Amino acid sequence: MGGPEPGSATASTDRRPWAGRRIVLGVTGGIAAYKVVQLARDLTRMGATVDVVPTRSARRFVGDISFEGVTGRPVRWDILESGRALDHIRLAREADLVCVAPATADFLARGAHGRADDLLSALLLATRAPVLLAPAMNDAMWEHPATQANVARLVELGYYLVGPAEGPLAYGEGAGAGRMEQPDVLLQHIGRALVGETRYSGRRVVVTAGPTREPVDPVRYLSNRSSGRMGFALAAAAWRRSAEVDLVAGPTVLEPPHGPRVHQVETGAEMKSAVRRLLADAELLIMAAAPADFRPAEVATLKIKKEAAPDVLSLEPAPDILRDTIPDRRTGSVVVGFALEMEEGEGNALRKLESKELDLVVLNRTGPRSGFDTETNEVTLLDRDGEAEPLPLLSKDEVAERILDRIERLMPFPDE
Ligand code: CTP
Repeated sequence: MGGPEPGSATASTDRRPWAGRRIVLGVTGGIAAYKVVQLARDLTRMGATVDVVPTRSARRFVGDISFEGVTGRPVRWDILESGRALDHIRLAREADLVCVAPATADFLARGAHGRADDLLSALLLATRAPVLLAPAMNDAMWEHPATQANVARLVELGYYLVGPAEGPLAYGEGAGAGRMEQPDVLLQHIGRALVGETRYSGRRVVVTAGPTREPVDPVRYLSNRSSGRMGFALAAAAWRRSAEVDLVAGPTVLEPPHGPRVHQVETGAEMKSAVRRLLADAELLIMAAAPADFRPAEVATLKIKKEAAPDVLSLEPAPDILRDTIPDRRTGSVVVGFALEMEEGEGNALRKLESKELDLVVLNRTGPRSGFDTETNEVTLLDRDGEAEPLPLLSKDEVAERILDRIERLMPFPDE
């Protein structure tokens, strides 16, 4: 059923924070119900055990078999099913999280009033797990004061509301606020709710990712093969740990993750000024980007003709962002850099730790499965005490989690 191939580098990793968790996925009767098959599938692929609980009207939108096909588990919906009368209590007790997507206006009303006339609403009352609701409805219904009052009550009751998003509504209804958040966005919010409070909660974190592009002329640039994947994984993982994340991203083909505030930049100079500005409030900087080390000394205003090219391209150093922003760092902030090395790894990485005044350096080996533009990475973490922690080949998502675990030990508590 999808997921990593057995024996692949990612098969042994945790797929945190979803793997091994029990999730009740409530589905109510809105057209967005068809998208929730994808969410059920994604959660299952991330290693969660997913029990789908549709309402009676949801079952008219999507058949039970679709959910059973992607979760490998029976769909539950009948509160009075013989022999299963205590299902709602058991499911509610065992769940690590309950997510209702889509949550219709009617379901929000019933949730706000504590109704318990079907399995899903009863479950909501019986659970002590975090509850995440993803509303979806017509925009006028969403804006109606009755719905807004119900939403306010649900927030008061401690439920997390995700969305609705702006966008195209049902056929013929145009666009507006009322669309269910996309399954990949819900997956991230579920991850964040599963993680809960951490040492990162509410702390300002700046992560850089991707390459920079240094223009040569109006149609050409110098760059490198960085995909941005490692920095995106770090930003996403820090956001799931409830940090306030600013992600400064160079140009990449990958979509930046949902959650962090994204600052798109192109050149090293732009990345430097974004980092400098954000550092004023940051408690942690993770410099996972691969900014260019050189740039053309002059940018041609017209496209360089091929006959002229060999003579015009002279290079100068591009800004070293980590080094240049040393004076902008807050006292007590933690700074983490990467060192991409092909040879003399540890020596070079430790030199960068010193010269760029880092607290931790992530030594990144380049190879077919590690380094730039790969799904996996093999890194060693080196700190100021010279302690080296080599990690095995892991998915970049898991490498990000391990780096954050390690940084957590370096971060002072606010009252320390
Ligand atoms: N870095 C930076 N600005 C640059 C180049 C690199 O801030 N112009 C940061 C990277 O984000 C990384 C660290 O510095 O966190 C080390 O990057 P790396 O490319 O390994 O080293 P360089 O300093 O570029 O040195 P060299 O190319 O000689 O290995």
